Amino acid sequence: MRISKPFPAFSFLSILALYFSFYTITPTSSAASLQDQFINCLKRNTNVYFPTEKTFFAPAKNISMFSQVLESTAQNLRFLTKTMPKPGFIFSPIHESHVQASIICSKKLRLHLRVRSGGHDYEGLSYVSEIEKPFILMDLSKLRQIDINIKDNSAWVQAGATVGELYYRIAEKSKVHGFPAGLCSSLGIGGHITGGAYGSMMRKYGLGADNVLDAKIVDSNGKLLDRTAMGEDTFWAIRGGAGGSFGIILAWKIKLVPVPKTVTVFTVTKTLEQDVGNKILAKWQNVADKLVDELFIRVLFNVAGNNGNKTVTTSYNAMFLGGKGTLMKVMKKSFPELGLTLKDCVEMSWLESILYISGFPSRTPTNVLLQGKPTFPKINFKAKSDFVKTPIPVSGLKGIFKKMMKEDIPLMIWNPYGGMMAKIPESQIPFPHRKGVLFKVQYVTSWLDSDKRPSKHIKWIRDLYRYMTPYVSSNPRQAYVNYRDLDLGQNSKNAKSSIKQGQVWGPKYFKDNFNRLVNVKSKVDPENFFRHEQSIPPMRHFL
Ligand SMILES: Cc1cc2nc3c(=O)[nH]c(=O)nc-3n(C[C@H](O)[C@H](O)[C@H](O)COP(=O)(O)OP(=O)(O)OC[C@H]3O[C@@H](n4cnc5c(N)ncnc54)[C@H](O)[C@@H]3O)c2cc1C
Ligand SMILES: *[C@@H]1O[C@H](CO)[C@@H](O)[C@H](O)[C@H]1NC(C)=O
Ligand SMILES: *[C@@H]1O[C@H](CO)[C@@H](O)[C@H](O)[C@H]1NC(C)=O
Repeated sequence: MRISKPFPAFSFLSILALYFSFYTITPTSSAASLQDQFINCLKRNTNVYFPTEKTFFAPAKNISMFSQVLESTAQNLRFLTKTMPKPGFIFSPIHESHVQASIICSKKLRLHLRVRSGGHDYEGLSYVSEIEKPFILMDLSKLRQIDINIKDNSAWVQAGATVGELYYRIAEKSKVHGFPAGLCSSLGIGGHITGGAYGSMMRKYGLGADNVLDAKIVDSNGKLLDRTAMGEDTFWAIRGGAGGSFGIILAWKIKLVPVPKTVTVFTVTKTLEQDVGNKILAKWQNVADKLVDELFIRVLFNVAGNNGNKTVTTSYNAMFLGGKGTLMKVMKKSFPELGLTLKDCVEMSWLESILYISGFPSRTPTNVLLQGKPTFPKINFKAKSDFVKTPIPVSGLKGIFKKMMKEDIPLMIWNPYGGMMAKIPESQIPFPHRKGVLFKVQYVTSWLDSDKRPSKHIKWIRDLYRYMTPYVSSNPRQAYVNYRDLDLGQNSKNAKSSIKQGQVWGPKYFKDNFNRLVNVKSKVDPENFFRHEQSIPPMRHFL
């Protein structure tokens, strides 16, 4: 990383200044003094006041407060353990100009910066750097304003807002508007949309990233840009090219979509024994992507029971944009094998369906979404993803179930594609998993803090992933970037090795779009200021 403003050449003063600036920014200088320098620099670069005691959090100042802020939205306990590197300090900007100034000052002080919106990164990349020291964390949770404009079917949402808050604010204004993003209500709008953002309306309307109209970002020079100012190439890249590579998203302008006043949900669970010969699951594999676009049926696989009667359960968990009468007709015609009955169907508002799919107990008041918290207690987890293009035969399924029964807390989720997902061209945005995908598979294993052998679980999921090779996409074996997986390769400080690695994970997440992402990166951030273990590398790293 070079210093942004070159010093005037050959003057004694500049050499002194250079010496001094290197001296003060060497990694051995204490975090506290780095923070002071950062604060002084910020003050010079913004006109908007920030109370340091409410926006800066450092371990030396108050370790309990620091930990509280660090842990607040971090979703994966794996990256909060004692041995994980911690940021030198956390800064929570309260104004957009603070974000701009932070870029200028991190660059000047050569501080490696991580940015966090909702903290759901699967590999903790938004709050832990395992490749660079020291690093600081900019936490955008205080920038969470939402402005809904029903008249023109749009909304501006700041990065730190959760999708749950967004859904709540939309429903507050209109019962017939919605937005097609994630299922889990605590996702941060900032990071979530950068990687795609799918939810129960994806078959009808595509991804969150397919429904973005404009954005405000801060680039690597600290400039605030909207769509016109950043240009169409960058606007393309930020909608699916994943977070932490091109700039900092301050806010998204999204397109609201129509939803009916009444939607219907259901969950029908079958054990292996109740699905003789995997007939129901086989039928699901054949129809899930071909059903009417209004119907989204995913399958959740768990293990239940114990020694004597341990089994795998398959839960068909669905949302239908319409009433239960119509849903019953659709199911009788397309998927009678499931045996859905009227009693299984529950009608509710679209907002209530968000809580249902997110896993909140029934009758939870909808304003729980304003708390921005997840439904479930935090756990240690490791996950992976795959895309399936031809149905998995019964013989393949048998092996999956056998492996699941050997793991403590395994979870697998099959997520149907088709509908609008198949109609959007692969290169429209960087997210390339479109036509030809029947469904996406997510594998998850989780464990408690008391578990003495976490590596056992990681080994298990890698083994399952290896087993799945013949049944999933190949050349490249595709993966969902929002389910970030460092097993697919990671950047390092060595530029050559980074690009080699990028050639491994790049096409998996983005297929041919990876090349265009590298081009955009080379133009907007040639110095690679925005970087992490799997950020898009600039072209010069090829040389
Ligand atoms: C429990 C759980 C449920 C999930 N459910 C879904 C789902 O239903 N649908 C789906 O599509 N995905 C889902 N995901 C994946 C999720 O979309 C990604 O983890 C997403 O990146 C989360 O965004 P965030 O802001 O919460 O995360 P963060 O951890 O804050 O950020 C993720 C990445 O983006 C970068 N980033 C964060 N903010 C910004 C910003 N403002 N500008 C630029 N870069 C930024 C970070 O540095 C990091 O690299 C789920 C994840 C979890 C843990
Ligand atoms: C440190 O922060 C905690 C909140 O996490 C607060 O209760 C406590 O008073 C703070 N201590 C000091 C010395 O400021
Ligand atoms: C397994 O058996 C226990 C006790 O007999 C019972 O409570 C449980 O419901 C059974 N589980 C399954 C999945 O059949």
